[in-house]
Amino acid sequence: MKLISLIIAGLALLQAVLCANSELHGVYNLVARQLPQFADRFEFALVNDSYTISSETGKDTIIISGTTVNSLARGFYHYVRQCGSVSISWTASTISTLGSLPRLCGEGHHGSLDGVAVVPWRYYFNTVTFGYTTAFYSWADWEHLLDWAAMHGINMPLAWFGFSQAQIMTFLSGPAFQPWNRFGNIQGSWNSSLPLEWPRQQMHLQQKIVVELGMTPVLPSFTGFVHNAITDLYPDAAVINSSTWSNFPLIYTNVTFLEPLDPLFTKLQVAVIQRQRTYYGNVTHYYTLDQYNENSPFSGDVGYLKNVSLGTIESLRVADPDAVWVMQGWLFFSDASFWTDERIRAYLSGPEIGQLLILDLFSEGSPQWQRTNSYYGHDWIWCELHDFRGNQGLEGNLPTLTKGFTSAMANSSSLVGVGLTMEGQEGNQIVYDILLDQAWSSSSLNVKPYTTEFVKARYGPMTVPEDVIECWHELVNLVYMNNASSVVNVVPKSIYELAPNINGLLNITGHHPTKAFYDFSSLVDIWKKLVGTVVASPTMLQHPHAHYDLVDITRQVLANQFLDLYVDFMNFYNSTDPEVSTYSEIVERAKPLLDVLSTADRVLYTDVNFLLGTWIARARAFAEGNDTIADYYEFEARNQITLWGPTGQINNYASKQWGGLVGSYYLPQWEMFVDTLAVQRNVSAFQPATFQHTVLLPFGIQWQWEKWGEDENQTWGVRGDLLPILVELVKKF
Ligand SMILES: *[C@@H]1O[C@H](CO)[C@@H](O)[C@H](O)[C@H]1NC(C)=O
Ligand SMILES: *[C@@H]1O[C@H](CO)[C@@H](O)[C@H](O)[C@H]1NC(C)=O
Ligand SMILES: *[C@@H]1O[C@H](CO)[C@@H](O)[C@H](O)[C@H]1NC(C)=O
Ligand SMILES: *[C@@H]1O[C@H](CO)[C@@H](O)[C@H](O)[C@H]1NC(C)=O
Ligand SMILES: *[C@@H]1O[C@H](CO)[C@@H](O)[C@H](O)[C@H]1NC(C)=O
Ligand SMILES: *[C@@H]1O[C@H](CO)[C@@H](O)[C@H](O)[C@H]1NC(C)=O
Ligand SMILES: *[C@@H]1O[C@H](CO)[C@@H](O)[C@H](O)[C@H]1NC(C)=O
Ligand SMILES: *[C@@H]1O[C@H](CO)[C@@H](O)[C@H](O)[C@H]1NC(C)=O
Ligand SMILES: *[C@@H]1O[C@H](CO)[C@@H](O)[C@H](O)[C@H]1NC(C)=O
Ligand SMILES: *[C@@H]1O[C@H](CO)[C@@H](O)[C@H](O)[C@H]1NC(C)=O
Ligand SMILES: *[C@@H]1O[C@H](CO)[C@@H](O)[C@H](O)[C@H]1NC(C)=O
Ligand SMILES: *[C@@H]1O[C@H](CO)[C@@H](O)[C@H](O)[C@H]1NC(C)=O
Repeated sequence: MKLISLIIAGLALLQAVLCANSELHGVYNLVARQLPQFADRFEFALVNDSYTISSETGKDTIIISGTTVNSLARGFYHYVRQCGSVSISWTASTISTLGSLPRLCGEGHHGSLDGVAVVPWRYYFNTVTFGYTTAFYSWADWEHLLDWAAMHGINMPLAWFGFSQAQIMTFLSGPAFQPWNRFGNIQGSWNSSLPLEWPRQQMHLQQKIVVELGMTPVLPSFTGFVHNAITDLYPDAAVINSSTWSNFPLIYTNVTFLEPLDPLFTKLQVAVIQRQRTYYGNVTHYYTLDQYNENSPFSGDVGYLKNVSLGTIESLRVADPDAVWVMQGWLFFSDASFWTDERIRAYLSGPEIGQLLILDLFSEGSPQWQRTNSYYGHDWIWCELHDFRGNQGLEGNLPTLTKGFTSAMANSSSLVGVGLTMEGQEGNQIVYDILLDQAWSSSSLNVKPYTTEFVKARYGPMTVPEDVIECWHELVNLVYMNNASSVVNVVPKSIYELAPNINGLLNITGHHPTKAFYDFSSLVDIWKKLVGTVVASPTMLQHPHAHYDLVDITRQVLANQFLDLYVDFMNFYNSTDPEVSTYSEIVERAKPLLDVLSTADRVLYTDVNFLLGTWIARARAFAEGNDTIADYYEFEARNQITLWGPTGQINNYASKQWGGLVGSYYLPQWEMFVDTLAVQRNVSAFQPATFQHTVLLPFGIQWQWEKWGEDENQTWGVRGDLLPILVELVKKF
């Protein structure tokens, strides 16, 4: 077979070679990681702000020219995804499975592939993603995720990587709760007096790869939240209490805020930014800084608000004369009653145009840019939030993303980017890919052909059966066109992740959403057809994405079934007569409900991406061998996904459908619920608050302190094969 090499040309080859030693090593390293067997057959060079992939007549050479290292990474991905039908996701990459370099597959003129970004910035991460998803990422996990980001054209990641010097003067919370510490929502670590350390060397590597891959990191800065002992050092410091948050005991909230009007604020800002510069070099002028994320300002006076933002931007500009303040715009939505148009205008009037970059954090659901006239002219980014707290329900609205963004482009001249600002990353990957691809298309992407291409690359390089593509079109029409709710928090969780109760679990919107928005039986039909396909060709399940999706859809089918069975059971229970019915009769009627949980646990256990053991193992590894610290990190990892706070302050907010978690946490709670009902045999005897405080909470607190693996049935890795479980399961539907 003839060699095909990928050459990034335009400038002289000589320059490419010269560049290879400097700016370009990042993209060479990326190819070496993703496609090692052909790494020496790629050549890259920098030309201008876009990329073109073409081939020269008579030569088996593919030529790509591009402007930035980031566009080259995107160009590389465009080529392998489109011509080789391989892809990278958050969970796996199939790029290295290519047996030979694919021929250039022409689309458009002269058989060339090209791309031009329609916005300069492609932003990535919500501050809290660093809690819900990456809190315990290892270096290998980061490397994969940053490769994913670069190949998807992301060039501006938030860089809250590990512990940094920026936190001097703050009162630390543990890794699983750091984001809310930075927001000034919480302080300290509950149930621990350990001095907590983070692996520090990781941080260097993360910053290095970000810069190598042509990304501009958004670095931390001094926000104003300080240890309340600051007044011991600086008795005259202008400090105020920020608000209390989510019913946390005062010692864990009530964070002290140093007023940006105090000269000390600038002094600390300069110290923080200089430290970072010493550490990382001059890698960016962008700084993340959120003062009022779910915190109310001390005063609503417009003069005060303007003074705060003026003091803040001045402090940044003293530290870095070209500083740009990057702000999550969540506050204007979440606390809309405080943030009137007048107050927003005042708060945003401190910085000049060009000194502030606002993330319109939830553009697809509750955009704020229209009511603020595009943030009164400040630069802003159209962001997709989509997933709160790492909920896993199948959900999305693809047209809202594609058309929403293009129509905003047409309407706002200060729109400078797209962004992903999900709270947690769990599934529904098409919903994120499509927005990042939309950033390279001036017209709205057409969902149907996009889906076909997405599926081919997701399951490639194998030839994807027509049935599977058809299933995906049906799936998109069923769950990825959700316009049932225009409001917040639409990615549902299963009711079995909530505290068992006789009512109040169904149709929830807002926090802990459970409202169904599609016909469950249609999903069952799609699922059965997919199961039929893998039964016919079982090797499909060796593909990491096919396995993931089968588990994910089965997970959803079971969650939906649980909801229906719960309603059946409650209907039955509500009509029981304590004089006539028996304990065992009620337990018997609840059996199908509990069986769904056992089955779900078995299904989830078959995939490494759905394991409690994976989450806990990462947390323990973070302790670098110190068992005392590892035990505490395990507590943190468990606490965040269950009680979220010392005694259930944000109970079940970040719940997960994971193998091991369903079996060891949700199933016992539902068993205790059934037992309680069976003893009472009278719905009016059930006291939810009593059940919560005397049964569920003690169980939950005890569970926090267990060690994974102590029980023989708790395994760290995957357990069981998916196919036989599916074969059995479809018979029951
Ligand atoms: C980039 O360079 C290519 C070829 O060198 C050229 O055709 C294209 O117009 C340039 N694009 C921009 C945005 O300058
Ligand atoms: C954890 O902290 C909470 C709040 O301070 C306290 O009520 C509880 O007793 C502590 N639990 C343990 C096991 O230390
Ligand atoms: C700060 O909060 C504490 C506890 O709520 C309260 O006692 C104190 O008065 C507050 N201080 C100020 C300056 O508001
Ligand atoms: C709340 O914060 C204020 C001001 O920093 C402090 O004086 C007070 O002691 C704090 N309250 C508690 C319970 O920690
Ligand atoms: C970084 O930038 C500062 C000014 O912002 C400059 O004084 C310094 O020399 C730069 N350092 C490097 C390593 O480029
Ligand atoms: C804002 O700052 C100016 C200048 O320091 C000061 O005169 C004014 O009183 C402040 N306004 C408020 C409402 O704090
Ligand atoms: C964009 O502007 C057009 C025309 O002014 C208007 O009809 C449309 O509703 C606007 N779209 C958005 C998303 O604001
Ligand atoms: C919601 O989507 C359905 C199907 O795609 C469509 O028929 C309906 O008009 C949409 N409703 C709204 C309010 O956009
Ligand atoms: C939930 O909504 C469905 C329709 O969407 C309705 O049939 C059902 O009665 C509702 N259940 C409760 C408990 O509100
Ligand atoms: C069962 O009874 C409880 C208590 O009266 C009620 O809140 C609940 O809606 C009922 N459930 C069903 C499914 O009818
Ligand atoms: C583990 O960490 C704890 C808390 O920092 C410390 O007290 C202990 O000495 C460490 N143990 C070992 C074996 O290093
Ligand atoms: C482990 O699972 C087996 C089979 O379900 C069961 O018999 C055994 O009791 C379990 N062990 C524990 C410690 O729960």
